[in-house]
Amino acid sequence: MYLSKLFIPITKDLPTEAKIKSHQLMLRTGMIKQSSAGIYSWLPLGFKVMKKIEQIVREEQNNINAQEMLMPTIQSADIWKESGRYNDYGEEMLRIKDRQNREMLYGPTNEELITEIFRSSVKSYKSLPQLLYHIQWKFRDEIRPRFGVMRCREFYMKDAYSFDLNDKQAKLSYNKMFYSYLKTFKRLDLKAIPMKAETGPIGGDLSHEFIILAETGESKIYADKKIFDIDLKDYSYTEESLEKMRNDYSSVYAVTDEKFNQKEFDSKVNKDEQLITKGIEVGHIFYFGDKYSKPLNCLVDAQGGKKETVKMGSYGIGVSRLVGAIIEAKYNKNVMKWPKSISPFDVVIIPNINKNNKENLIKSEKIYKELKKQNIDVLLDDVDENMSNKFKKHDLIGIPNQIIVGSKSTEDEFEFKDKDSKSSILKLNEIKSKLKN
Ligand SMILES: Nc1ncnc2c1ncn2[C@@H]1O[C@H](COP(=O)(O)OP(=O)(O)O)[C@@H](O)[C@H]1O
Ligand SMILES: [Mg+2]
Repeated sequence: MYLSKLFIPITKDLPTEAKIKSHQLMLRTGMIKQSSAGIYSWLPLGFKVMKKIEQIVREEQNNINAQEMLMPTIQSADIWKESGRYNDYGEEMLRIKDRQNREMLYGPTNEELITEIFRSSVKSYKSLPQLLYHIQWKFRDEIRPRFGVMRCREFYMKDAYSFDLNDKQAKLSYNKMFYSYLKTFKRLDLKAIPMKAETGPIGGDLSHEFIILAETGESKIYADKKIFDIDLKDYSYTEESLEKMRNDYSSVYAVTDEKFNQKEFDSKVNKDEQLITKGIEVGHIFYFGDKYSKPLNCLVDAQGGKKETVKMGSYGIGVSRLVGAIIEAKYNKNVMKWPKSISPFDVVIIPNINKNNKENLIKSEKIYKELKKQNIDVLLDDVDENMSNKFKKHDLIGIPNQIIVGSKSTEDEFEFKDKDSKSSILKLNEIKSKLKN
């Protein structure tokens, strides 16, 4: 893609309404555009990043054999009345009436709808366990939407639901999700800490929040740095291994301020191992047993002909929030670098162009074609602008690798800046192989 052709409305001014870096950057680089309070359009650059995150989330869900489906955004109020949450949910739920005067709503979550689908089609224990998920827009009428895509009203979420016959099997589903989340965040190059959490309006007795470290986060966290020594490579998908993983995590101190206690912290964690920082909640998992299946009468025939209420859990990841959260975690000294796995482009070519000299642009176009042939997703900055402005612009856009075509280049050697901003003069072949691995 040529930058001059890309729909990327970069603005020079700092947006005044944006209080945190990710929000400012996403508006300035034209990743998103607000359409009304807490509701955004995703423009090509932002959309591309979000889709890459979504794909990683999807692959790690599929790796635990969760099955993808798609439920609608608009739901009928009836099932919410059955579960008792229609009144409980309060003003965060956007309620709508259709032309027949039927009560509808824009789904803030999907426990009711999935339970309704499940109860009408599954009759026997033999069909259990089931793990289903979808990636779909949600609406919650937050009283104070803020921080751009981090706390908005319409947001994109992966939500999964597990159905099991008993507690033991349900815990296995929970542990699988737990593992899948940690793998997902690792692929996004994030340090995520699972923290035991309150279950809130979803209910139930077991819950973890997944929090990533970022100075601008809304949650204050207190943890033992040892938590980062736990290596996912030491575990596998077997029941025993997953159980061990969760025990290993539970044995290390990590809490948010709700559960913080200074005395306990000091007695359990060495001073130099104490981590006090802020974080952003990017995922949240719940095991709530029969909280929904009971009122919704979701039963299966168990062995011996008895009817059993199925045991359920639900598991969310804020896909659109992650775009902002990753910026918060990665932004450093006015420079943004996307993790390789989700960067909007693999590399940008930045030629020094001026009206009288097109030589650098011609060289750049050759490189562009070569890299394209290798399936490398490359952006060419063909805009006629001085180099210092170009560099500033790319510090914001955050493509991790740059090829600079200017005074230091020859016919076959160019300046290459890698994701750590380390600069070297390399042959095109060497650049290719660096980008390939
Ligand atoms: N208002 C919001 N804007 C963006 N993402 C959100 C919002 N609310 C929730 N999310 C994302 O969805 C995930 C699951 O939400 P959930 O835990 O049910 O909501 P909450 O934490 O507000 O009770 C959260 O971990 C977060 O990543
Ligand atoms: Mg939550």
